[in-house]
Amino acid sequence: MSQVMRGAGAEGLPIAIAAAQKAGAIIQELGCGVLEVQHKGTIDLVTQVDLACETAIRSLLTEQSPGVPILAEEGGGPWDATTRWIVDPLDGTTNFVHGYPSYAVCVALEVDGTLEAGCIYDPIQDRTYAAHRGGGATCNGTKISVSETSRLIESLLITGFPYDRRERADFYLRYLRAFMVRTQGIRRMGAASMDFVAIATGVADGYWEIGLSPWDVAAGALLVQEAGGQVTDFDAGPLDLSSRRMLASNGHLHQEMCEVLRELISSEG
Ligand code: IPD
Ligand code: CA
Ligand code: CA
Repeated sequence: MSQVMRGAGAEGLPIAIAAAQKAGAIIQELGCGVLEVQHKGTIDLVTQVDLACETAIRSLLTEQSPGVPILAEEGGGPWDATTRWIVDPLDGTTNFVHGYPSYAVCVALEVDGTLEAGCIYDPIQDRTYAAHRGGGATCNGTKISVSETSRLIESLLITGFPYDRRERADFYLRYLRAFMVRTQGIRRMGAASMDFVAIATGVADGYWEIGLSPWDVAAGALLVQEAGGQVTDFDAGPLDLSSRRMLASNGHLHQEMCEVLRELISSEG
């Protein structure tokens, strides 16, 4: 990609896909071996596989799109740039370490503050989820779309809990409780990327999470939007990748979910 500009999603997507699949191959190969697990925090893990994936992704992106900065989970990067690659080399590391089958690679391209291309590669199922702005969302090349569920009481929702959950358990549990009593069920799979995939493919209807980082959200948010859904802040305002309050839904449930969230926020005082 010689020059990155708005509308560069179609041009950036093949690069995002190549980078995510390259890291996926590393996960498939090294995931069968002995994992070297380090602790970034008491329960926040990183392995040599996360690091190897990030190195491979950085090298491919740098070669294919020289000059475009990269923000990636393990090595960091520009927090204030509005044109950049946003990378989670292995989302769902805790699952990966335990052998729980829900983890993926995320690569997204943001241009002038707008998400233009995104890829989530699921190395367990060998599935490539891809989207570029205005181009729809696909799984292995086949179009995917969100569900039609329009009432919260008929919905299946997803959530996740950030790594400060031990210190703030009661706070997160209030949100869980509020939705638990209004829906058909709540699932917690432990990989934000695959949670977005569940909304984009219509197997779940809504997903909220507090405390996510840009690399957890960027590719998945575009995937859901291009699959016909909505992704916003908790007040239905435009998605801010750094806001740490993310709501994704099939669109039909968005308002009802926002009302629940609004009540929770106003009672926080
Ligand atoms: C985590 C997962 C998890 C979410 C955490 C994330 P990581 O990413 O996406 O589902 O609840 O907030 O940090 O650390 O496995 O890349
Ligand atoms: Ca992550
Ligand atoms: Ca990660």
